[in-house]
Amino acid sequence: MNLTLDDPLWKKSTSTVGLVVTTDGSRVNVLSAEWTYFVAKAPISVAVVLHESNWTTDRISDLSEFSVTLCSDTQAHLADFCGSFSGRDIPKTSSDDLSLREPVVISTPWVGDGVMALECVVAQRVELPHYTMVIGLVEHVHGDREFKAPLVKHDAMYSLGKAVPRNQVTVGAANVGAALRVFAVCAPDASRESVYEVALLGDSGEVLAKQSIAPNEYGDLDCFMPVPSDGRGPVRRVAVSRIGYDTGFATPQSD
Ligand SMILES: Cc1cc2nc3c(=O)[nH]c(=O)nc-3n(C[C@H](O)[C@H](O)[C@H](O)COP(=O)(O)O)c2cc1C
Repeated sequence: MNLTLDDPLWKKSTSTVGLVVTTDGSRVNVLSAEWTYFVAKAPISVAVVLHESNWTTDRISDLSEFSVTLCSDTQAHLADFCGSFSGRDIPKTSSDDLSLREPVVISTPWVGDGVMALECVVAQRVELPHYTMVIGLVEHVHGDREFKAPLVKHDAMYSLGKAVPRNQVTVGAANVGAALRVFAVCAPDASRESVYEVALLGDSGEVLAKQSIAPNEYGDLDCFMPVPSDGRGPVRRVAVSRIGYDTGFATPQSD
């Protein structure tokens, strides 16, 4: 498939727009970056991916720090504004809508009113065709105790929708010697008391063996079932059910 600029595949994904702040000591600038992602948990790290044409990309190559605010759903206008002009030409921080706050650890201010703001020290720069991915170690987090809903970029900008219902057991199965390893998940908020019902099925869907098995500490199923050796034929499918969920099926595979 030939992808062109008329076919922007990345717009089909989602992200929360980051407002990336840099300062060279005299001028503070803010850029919108929908390509802002957490990339490691310990130490907590965040990456922003910047096009070579942006002033921020030039500036950050000489800087050891930046801040990035993950926008809340009240900040779509700021995401548009900071992504529509270059700080080379105009001072974006002149807008009354941009609330710049004092940093705690670094010297770069951060934009307030987002879901969270991260004070970062540059850890790595990864050069990509036309882009630089700048990875920052998060040195300080500004977050409100009051929950703010994130701004969701998905071509247009959205607030969060309703949680997706998960009412299906999803199962896998592997032949392991004379046993079958059966593993399954369903929604994490399922009652911890309800067990998984595992059935091993033969050629015509007849039940060759069945067993009730308690979920593990994560609420998932991960068990070994002996393959029946009573001559009624091989196990063709595995069915796993749980009260309140649609039954899931798997076809056992060998390595
Ligand atoms: C919503 C939105 C998201 C954007 N995301 C990115 C991005 O992830 N990376 C990037 O390089 N440019 C992105 N841009 C474009 C830059 O923000 C834009 O070119 C900006 O004017 C550059 O500012 P600067 O020259 O002051 O650094 C985005 C623009 C908008 C409106």
